Amino acid sequence: MTAAPGRTAAAARRTAGRGAAQGGGRILAADARYAAAARLRRAGVASPALDANVLLGHVLGVDPADVPLWRNAVLSPAQRRAFDAAAARRAQREPVAYVTGRRAFRNLTLQVDRRVLIPRPESELLVEVCLRLLDETASRLVVDVGAGSGALACAMAQERPGLRVCAADVSRPALRAAAANVRRLGLSDRIRLCRADGVRGLDLDGALVLANLPYVPSDLLPDLAPEVSRWEPRLALDGGADGLHVIRRVIAQVGRSRARAAAFECAPDQARRVAALLQSAGFPHPIVHPDLAACPRVVAAARLRMPSPCQGEGSPPLFLGDAPARPEGSHGPAGPRAAGTARPFASGRAPR
Ligand SMILES: C[S@@+](CC[C@H](N)C(=O)[O-])C[C@H]1O[C@@H](n2cnc3c(N)ncnc32)[C@H](O)[C@@H]1O
Repeated sequence: MTAAPGRTAAAARRTAGRGAAQGGGRILAADARYAAAARLRRAGVASPALDANVLLGHVLGVDPADVPLWRNAVLSPAQRRAFDAAAARRAQREPVAYVTGRRAFRNLTLQVDRRVLIPRPESELLVEVCLRLLDETASRLVVDVGAGSGALACAMAQERPGLRVCAADVSRPALRAAAANVRRLGLSDRIRLCRADGVRGLDLDGALVLANLPYVPSDLLPDLAPEVSRWEPRLALDGGADGLHVIRRVIAQVGRSRARAAAFECAPDQARRVAALLQSAGFPHPIVHPDLAACPRVVAAARLRMPSPCQGEGSPPLFLGDAPARPEGSHGPAGPRAAGTARPFASGRAPR
């Protein structure tokens, strides 16, 4: 979270002091933070001290990194109430990002709420891969399928001026949330919002299609952290029996179009299947990109051959980095980490 513009720790401390003078009960920021962390710990939150810090920073309007500077400030009654309410929400295992209403993604701060999935760090890789694909394919149109908060569409548009972007989602509430982000970030003239089931009805001529669609197998949903399973939209998570229900359909649709390239995020143990689906759909040389945890995470392919050093005609997908190129289900020397990981997110952690 970023500090309120122009607001210094000293100014915020003065505000807190005034609040106390107006007659609220006196509680020091350090004590409030300590009590909130204890409450979150009792509620089973994985990172109670960190989360209490972020929530206090949010309430005070300062960067969480500056919160320790505040330890001796007296919270105003309003700040106390707001902090109590925020901690109570977090103790219900509501993700921090929904409580604060914000999430950082690449260079952007997005507004998020329960209408949309909280953008994950591993999806930043999808943006990186697509920026490179744009250079290789010279495409000037990006179609973000399953746009959610608009994180990917906004990042692509912001990082590549001149690019036209279509942000599509089947969920009307998600599209409304994305529209707010697009407006707030000043990208309305570059990003068109479309309601679509997959890419049905969208013009994909020459486009780069990128998608972070639901990919959690339905029977794994109850095993996810409460922050995910209780709070994030099921429509954003549920990928059907094998997790690939929506992705499979969208790849088939993209295959029938004149899209120039496509990139899909998926779970590590799905990468090989997604690569095969792309090959069958007319994208002959898929490349699997590992995330920061070295798990296969993004599968990308162009209609035409992309420059890659060691792929022959009809060769299997190229796994970059550490990612193992072994059959699914086998636990080779690298261990079961990638092949056996059916977690939706690289770290397996819930969003804070
Ligand atoms: C995993 S979320 C990703 C959101 C966003 N792209 C991100 O990375 O933060 C998946 C999104 O796909 C949308 N979705 C699910 N099924 C869809 C479908 N058949 N067609 C289009 N969008 C769909 C959901 O509404 C949700 O917003």
